[in-house]
Amino acid sequence: MKVAFFSTKKYDKDFFEQTNEKFDHELTFFETALNAHTASLAQGYEAVCVFVNDDLNKKTLEKLAGYGIKLIALRCAGFNNVDLEAAAENDITSVRVPAYSPQAVAEHAVALILTLNRKTHKAYNRVRENNFSLDKLTGFNLYGKTVGVIGTGIIGICFAKIMLGFGCKVLAFDIKPSDELKDLGVKYVAIDELLKEADIISLHCPLNEQTHHLMDADAFNKMKDGAMLINTGRGALIDTTAVVEALKKEKLGYLGIDVYEQESGLFFNDRSETINKDDDFLRLMSFPNVLITGHQGFFTREALEQIAQVTLQNLSDFENGNELENEVPA
Ligand code: NAI
Repeated sequence: MKVAFFSTKKYDKDFFEQTNEKFDHELTFFETALNAHTASLAQGYEAVCVFVNDDLNKKTLEKLAGYGIKLIALRCAGFNNVDLEAAAENDITSVRVPAYSPQAVAEHAVALILTLNRKTHKAYNRVRENNFSLDKLTGFNLYGKTVGVIGTGIIGICFAKIMLGFGCKVLAFDIKPSDELKDLGVKYVAIDELLKEADIISLHCPLNEQTHHLMDADAFNKMKDGAMLINTGRGALIDTTAVVEALKKEKLGYLGIDVYEQESGLFFNDRSETINKDDDFLRLMSFPNVLITGHQGFFTREALEQIAQVTLQNLSDFENGNELENEVPA
């Protein structure tokens, strides 16, 4: 198929071109993000391949349909950036990569926990400056702590299993509980009980109408004093204004995020020479107990290989009229 890739980086091109030797699709890589203004780049192609911050709203989709685009191949798991109703109205099918390496994201969530807790990022800088003081580097044992997992799908399950391995008590909240986790001793509870009991809360549910600002002022009030919140799901699961308040009031003890509500237009690019005008983001960065990474949870070699493989297979299945295993339901 003739495919226009949007929001691409060198690593996308490298992994996709290498994997495409087995598929032989015609791939063009654009660095720009896809939105209503850039949709015209898709003229002459049969499909677009997009990532987390491409904006496939109604207007973008109408334009794509006008250019004859029939397929959106998401090279990610989440699909909150696609107006699926508008896609269906315009006869555009969406496919995704539902599970490329759940371990990659789960392990990154654990990396955030360990770094925030044991302050290895601070220790690294101190030692490089010949400062061997341990002052203010005190952490806490994970063993015996209560971890709350919100969303126990593919990634949440991996994460819960790792935390069980640390000797933590794991509580979970999900609209569809996992029998596998129950058998391993994970206890499903109401969300309020999870918020009240957990020392560490990790978000692994998708972003949708029900989960938008799931962590709002009310949720922070219900949490244990000094709890740690980790978000590797999607930025808008957390109300940024409310989390800043919870940090200021010292209600929330630690915040580790790989995703941010206003990340599109900020993440995935070197902006070291530009002025960051996002005051909420700058406020978050000013807290000593906040750790932010730029949406790199998925970013392992194994995951990139799997993303390329599944995306190109999705394109082939569509082209050949095969059943679409990874179609996003409208
Ligand atoms: P999944 O679909 O396997 O699991 C999601 C789970 O959330 C399901 O068990 C579902 O029942 C549950 N859920 C849905 N609505 C809920 C609600 N209102 N309350 C509680 N639970 C609810 O998805 P997967 O693969 O585990 O991914 C989870 C999320 O992680 C994705 O939606 C995506 O936003 C994010 N993600 C982040 C990445 C990163 O690089 N930081 C990479 C990949 C995914």
